[in-house]
Amino acid sequence: MWGRLWPLLLSCLIATAIPGPSPRRPSRELDATPRMTIPYEELSGTRHFKGQAQNYSTLLLEEASGRLLVGARGALFSLNAQDIGDGTHKEILWEASPEMQSRCHQKGKNNQTECFNHVRVLQRLNATHLYTCGTHAFQPLCAAIDAQAFTLPATFEEGREKCPYDPARGFTGLIIDGGLYTATRYEFRSIPDIRRSRHPHSLKTEEAPMHWLNDAEFVFSVLVRESEASAVGDDDKVYYFFTERATEEGSGSFTQSRSSHRVARVARVCKGDMGGKKILQKKWTSFLKARLICHIPQYETLRAVCSLDAAASTRSRFYAAFTLTTQWKTLEASAICRYDLTEIQTVFTGPFMEYQDGTRRWGRYDGGVPEPRPGSCITNSLRSRGYNSSRDLPSLVLDFVKLHPLMARPLVPARGRPLLLKHSVRYTHLTGTPVTTPGGPTYDLLFLGTADGWIHKAVVLGSGMHIIEETQVLREAQPVENLVISPTQHSLYVGAANGVLQLPLSTCSRYRSCYDCILARDPYCGWDPSTHGCVEATTIANRTALIQDIERGNRGCEGSRDAGPPPPLRTRSVLRGDDVLLPCDQPSNLARALWLLNGTRGLSDGQAGYRVGVDGLLVTDTQPEHSGNYSCYAEENGLRTLLASYSLMVRPATPAPAPQAPSTPEAQLAPDVRLLYVLAIAALGGLCLVLASSLLYVACLRGGQQRGRRRRKYSLGRAGRPGGSAVQLQTVSGQCPGEEDEGDDGEGAGGLEGSCLQIIPGEGAPAPPPPPPPPPPAELTNGLVALPSRLRRMNGSSYVLLRQSDNGVPAGPCSFAEELSRILEKRKHTQLVEQLDESSV
Ligand SMILES: *[C@@H]1O[C@H](CO)[C@@H](O)[C@H](O)[C@H]1NC(C)=O
Ligand SMILES: *[C@@H]1O[C@H](CO)[C@@H](O)[C@H](O)[C@H]1NC(C)=O
Ligand SMILES: *[C@@H]1O[C@H](CO)[C@@H](O)[C@H](O)[C@H]1NC(C)=O
Ligand SMILES: *[C@@H]1O[C@H](CO)[C@@H](O)[C@H](O)[C@H]1NC(C)=O
Ligand SMILES: *[C@@H]1O[C@H](CO)[C@@H](O)[C@H](O)[C@H]1NC(C)=O
Ligand SMILES: *[C@@H]1O[C@H](CO)[C@@H](O)[C@H](O)[C@H]1NC(C)=O
Ligand SMILES: *[C@@H]1O[C@H](CO)[C@@H](O)[C@H](O)[C@H]1NC(C)=O
Repeated sequence: MWGRLWPLLLSCLIATAIPGPSPRRPSRELDATPRMTIPYEELSGTRHFKGQAQNYSTLLLEEASGRLLVGARGALFSLNAQDIGDGTHKEILWEASPEMQSRCHQKGKNNQTECFNHVRVLQRLNATHLYTCGTHAFQPLCAAIDAQAFTLPATFEEGREKCPYDPARGFTGLIIDGGLYTATRYEFRSIPDIRRSRHPHSLKTEEAPMHWLNDAEFVFSVLVRESEASAVGDDDKVYYFFTERATEEGSGSFTQSRSSHRVARVARVCKGDMGGKKILQKKWTSFLKARLICHIPQYETLRAVCSLDAAASTRSRFYAAFTLTTQWKTLEASAICRYDLTEIQTVFTGPFMEYQDGTRRWGRYDGGVPEPRPGSCITNSLRSRGYNSSRDLPSLVLDFVKLHPLMARPLVPARGRPLLLKHSVRYTHLTGTPVTTPGGPTYDLLFLGTADGWIHKAVVLGSGMHIIEETQVLREAQPVENLVISPTQHSLYVGAANGVLQLPLSTCSRYRSCYDCILARDPYCGWDPSTHGCVEATTIANRTALIQDIERGNRGCEGSRDAGPPPPLRTRSVLRGDDVLLPCDQPSNLARALWLLNGTRGLSDGQAGYRVGVDGLLVTDTQPEHSGNYSCYAEENGLRTLLASYSLMVRPATPAPAPQAPSTPEAQLAPDVRLLYVLAIAALGGLCLVLASSLLYVACLRGGQQRGRRRRKYSLGRAGRPGGSAVQLQTVSGQCPGEEDEGDDGEGAGGLEGSCLQIIPGEGAPAPPPPPPPPPPAELTNGLVALPSRLRRMNGSSYVLLRQSDNGVPAGPCSFAEELSRILEKRKHTQLVEQLDESSV
């Protein structure tokens, strides 16, 4: 039970840890709250696969054959994409031998993590074979696998040039027309490189006199078929996304000046590149790179990238996840940006940067650019001028390429800003798919995996990003390592340390009413007026009849009578002076509770003994005038839906103890009763202090391990009961008497409440407090750096944020005692209500 008091404790502490809003705080409106929260226990329709191996991090989906191929640590699997858990999988055990492992260990590598065969490459080679490479205990090996038989061949290929030695190293690899395009740092000490092997013209990046890549960590690569439908006979290109050490610091348009500063980049090469003849022999002649900007200076560490419509180059676009660049590991925040291919092409045809020996700085190159333009692919016009391949390019051009790999203009995100900035979340992977709605428009649907085992499903709108739901897919707080979408199977596959998961892309039946279906804004879901259900648009024959409103999320249901059956009227009968809780659970994190008395009067928090939380209405010290019909509505995005209605009757108290029922009870309290109050408060205060220190100690001990479990639902009643009246601790809304007087409850703890904390429902509330800012390091010197992220985890589902009361006095134990007593009081009433439904107290 004490564990549940966590949020309060933190509230005591946080009040002193977070000063006012930071001027550098990015725009709040970008911090979207997931509309629904689906914890692990409530997952439905999932399928699992787990073999003997670990680290299921390489996934290859073959839609045509309906197989999901998986590369793990020491094994490869071929799963039935329709149901990965149906037991029909094929398996290849491919471990490093014990001798290899001990040799690896002797080289000083970790035999618990590094001295295994981590599969890194798993790609289709030709019609009959797959190609795979593994780190193989720091001695990489590759092999062509017969896809049908799914067995290892008798002979292996040397993997030194194709696969990293270190499994933790950033790596990306593709097989294009039989050639293997890989980017990583290959051997232990070698510098990073983009290579093409298994090809008549093997190529690398240049290392002298200038490194084209500096300490690069690769994240993603993709082939964009720019030759298709190209009027100028353009070539296909491979794009690479990575972070690297910035060498151009302190010059030109770049203002950062820390020398070890790392920046995100996009680079590209032409598929038809054959290298130079004398200059740039066996090197790319088409390598160009540019800086990738999302939200600087805070968000510069690129974590994951996905591409959409890479086949149709004019519409190709990329979504990238960045995390906060800070040395404070406990502070987590992510940003999502979108980049359009046409914009990338513009940057790569723009001005170059140049290293100026005189000033020893990088600056924009304003001199003449030789012809044909350096770094361009061979197009029709070049061919007509006799440049049949990159080997025909003039030395002047290749010399220029050698020294000018970097473009002057950075690549800015579409709309010039991030689509999303999310605090307390570290995205580790993302994938997306365009979804065409019955109404015509196509929306990009993204799935974002977090470092602690959750997936955010988000739709990209004209106005930004809407997170439809957050789903806990891994029981343990482990990172989502890979994500693959199959539109054919309507499935999302998740690779993680302990196995592979298959989830449906949508579960529209979760939305019970037309309004709920519309508010969700899931492009896969629409309300079918003929069957009165929220259905997968793809499964319906007459799609035009479906009601959807993705862009605004509130229109279309007016005419329909599908608001669902009205909730039953429940009766509550209490004695005068008692407190009563009327439960009302808000299913959506974006909804605001609205209570009406007798159908008209809106009740607000703090008014005449009413306390409104996201889980119900608490009426304290009931009086006869509190009697009446109470209805609870969810207000979301301009729509109002009835969730619960109660008929409350307050009966006169039993005659015996109340002959002279005081009209103003506090005025008549005997002095010894007051003394009792003070003593009780003092005792609670002391208890708070003891608890605070002991819990803080415990928190420090096991903070990280328990995060996943403690997150989100905090039920005092029976947790997770569907449609039940589970009461969430963190939703109690305490008042600071200094701001809003609680009327007849005014005596309470008297002047001791002066420094009370307020716990208020955060995002979605009308006047929300600032979120924990992406903190400038200056704020973090008091040793409490871990608190903001823990705080969020405590309060997960309703995004409760804490705010210090206006008087700015640091919270003392008294405020905690006050909240504590409120919680206990509420708890008492919750239990009463559960037992005494439809009856009197
Ligand atoms: C493999 O999984 C373990 C957890 O089981 C994790 O600690 C480790 O980082 C993973 N290794 C790689 C290379 O992904
Ligand atoms: C790793 O090496 C240590 C020390 O040589 C040895 O005791 C241990 O059994 C090895 N573990 C594995 C998994 O090989
Ligand atoms: C595919 O590649 C493998 C390995 O190089 C080779 O043995 C096989 O003959 C190729 N198959 C086809 C159809 O080209
Ligand atoms: C380019 O190809 C054309 C036609 O195939 C040929 O006539 C021409 O000589 C080639 N040019 C060079 C420089 O190889
Ligand atoms: C599909 O629904 C629309 C709108 O309700 C209706 O006009 C149309 O006739 C329906 N088409 C079919 C084939 O049922
Ligand atoms: C409360 O609701 C009941 C049942 O709907 C109704 O009979 C009664 O008149 C209502 N009372 C008020 C004050 O609206
Ligand atoms: C609501 O209706 C009840 C029953 O008719 C009545 O006793 C009560 O005074 C009404 N309350 C308000 C605030 O109108």
